Amino acid sequence: MIDKIKEHIAEIEKFTSDSKEAIENLRIKYLGKKGLLNDFFAEFKNVPNDQKKEFGQTINQLKTVATEKINALKEALDNKTVETGVYGDLTRPSEPVELGSRHPISIVKNQIIDIFSRIGFNVSEGPEIEDDWHNFTALNLPEYHPARDMQDTFFIQTNPDILLRTHTSSVQVRYMENNKPPIRTISPGRVYRNEAISARSHCFFHQVEGLYIDKNVSFADLKQTLQFFTTELFGKSEIRLRPSYFPFTEPSAEVDVYWGLETEADYRITKGTGWLEIMGCGMVDPNVLENCGIDSKEYSGFAFGMGIDRITMLLHQITDIRLLSENDVRFLEQFKSAL
Ligand code: PHE
Repeated sequence: MIDKIKEHIAEIEKFTSDSKEAIENLRIKYLGKKGLLNDFFAEFKNVPNDQKKEFGQTINQLKTVATEKINALKEALDNKTVETGVYGDLTRPSEPVELGSRHPISIVKNQIIDIFSRIGFNVSEGPEIEDDWHNFTALNLPEYHPARDMQDTFFIQTNPDILLRTHTSSVQVRYMENNKPPIRTISPGRVYRNEAISARSHCFFHQVEGLYIDKNVSFADLKQTLQFFTTELFGKSEIRLRPSYFPFTEPSAEVDVYWGLETEADYRITKGTGWLEIMGCGMVDPNVLENCGIDSKEYSGFAFGMGIDRITMLLHQITDIRLLSENDVRFLEQFKSAL
């Protein structure tokens, strides 16, 4: 009996085929429910005790040899069909491809950049760790100026001259120092303020600030630019400018866009007024131009600044600013289909 099994083993070892059916027949013959292997196992109880050990080892060997042979032949067959360009099983489900998504802040930032680039603005960037001059002094905010309190600042303790920028106006100062007018640039980036974190404010957020300097730039140019922007981004062209104060612009204004009062959400986000504040703006103060080496008698300009986080929350109906920095994939995955 043992010899007979050994013959089978030798036969399997010799066997080769590239036919699917032949391989399947081999499997059924040995490993199938009514296959030889099961027959031999059933025979086990009739084997004399002194041969049981060898018999057992031999049928196990038969099982291993048959299994390995069948697997090897199947694999060779699969490879062969791939090589010849005839793919095995076209109905097999494909491997899932995991798609990433852009962060909502990046999506909205890109939209804003895109709108301004269409009217000739380029993009400028600068360091997040700034010095006092570029963040404050050059912008008409000398030391001890009370308006410095408008922006609670993170200073580096060992060197009060170094700080985390509180706005990207600092980039505009750098740009004016290094480029001659005409200037048309927007500066997107992350900014920091020493504020308590809540659903509506964070100690870091993102801004896009814009700067336009040329001969004869007027407040009317500013208004027209803002109106173009709100129409492109929100699809809303009605804006109003409320007088305000910024040390680096004169006159200064806060820009509201008419959002409407059509839905309950409109009431909530506009506090029932229909108007929504979206940014600050103004004509660049002549002192600032002079600080940056630009002749304020020859040139004038306007500047504006807005928070990307607020606008993102508005456009995507996000009710808590903290979601934007928590990296929760359940939140981020919702932006897969966006730009
Ligand atoms: N820098 C101002 C801020 O961070 C925004 C602003 C920019 C206002 C330019 C006027 C002009 O609040």
